Amino acid sequence: MKIDIKDPNMIPVPIQDMISGTVIAVDLHIKLSDNKFIVIQRAGQKTNREQLKNYENKTIEYLWIKKSDYYNFIDCNLVVAGVILTHKNLGLTQKVHILGQISASVFLELEHVGMTLEAYSHCKQIVEATVALADIHGDLNDLFNGLKNCSDGLVRHSLAVCYVSVLIAQELQWKNKAIIEKLALGALLHDIGLKTLPPTLIDKHKSKMTFDEIQLYEQHPFKGMEQLASLRIVPDDIIAIIYQHHENSIGQGYPRKLRNAKIHPMARVVALAAEFCNLTITAASNPQVQTISQALQTIEVTMGQPYNKDVFRALQIALKKELRKAA
Ligand SMILES: [Fe+2]
Ligand SMILES: [Fe+2]
Repeated sequence: MKIDIKDPNMIPVPIQDMISGTVIAVDLHIKLSDNKFIVIQRAGQKTNREQLKNYENKTIEYLWIKKSDYYNFIDCNLVVAGVILTHKNLGLTQKVHILGQISASVFLELEHVGMTLEAYSHCKQIVEATVALADIHGDLNDLFNGLKNCSDGLVRHSLAVCYVSVLIAQELQWKNKAIIEKLALGALLHDIGLKTLPPTLIDKHKSKMTFDEIQLYEQHPFKGMEQLASLRIVPDDIIAIIYQHHENSIGQGYPRKLRNAKIHPMARVVALAAEFCNLTITAASNPQVQTISQALQTIEVTMGQPYNKDVFRALQIALKKELRKAA
């Protein structure tokens, strides 16, 4: 989904990312022309599904929120999402759907407001919810189903990588909560540097990029690391995940062609989780996805399993249940 934003004071939120049935803390607008917006709902009112459907039927794709209100919008959404995610009667698919909606809003915040301390703390809250879901449920097919309607390909990928990284860590017997949360936050933000690149480049499969485009694309781990490092409060482990998530054990990754021993243990996990999710989650650059077993096969046989052996084994064990269900 492409957004050509002209007015820097307004942020477009895809209607499909609005959580229905909740009180919205800010004014909602629709766009009339390049610089004209009209308020369609005042702060404090509830949205409902029919009303949102109605807008969609009128081919309105986005509701617009003032940039100065956006922090409040996310804060309230996170509170609402927190309540919904603890509901006993909701399945993982529905919970992930809501987590996808709120994550999409947080990624819009990163894009339009920047990597601020507030945005970073919003990401931490997303991670807490994702870790809790992985702890309680751990079912990957439900996760994939829940992410299907998420509007943004990068959000789908990032949330899935976060979730799969936690599943791998559980299998590796990583018990320390602080370590798991750092791993999950690095996984959620691993590709954040892509936001600095032209959207047309992100949507292209690497095999179709020119030499210059590949050079530019391969800068995203560095760009992401720069953004996080600028906050000065992000732990080194998270910075390492972002910078090293395209390295692999046989020294054929980028940007530094590191070999296994030199790669940060958390980056080893995220690198494999990211490759697995590239193969299994739809993206503009990759419309043809593989099943879980096909993806494991591709990594093992076609790619020659270039990732850390223990991490790959842990992913295989973590997915055994899903593979049995599919058989
Ligand atoms: Fe990446
Ligand atoms: Fe990635």
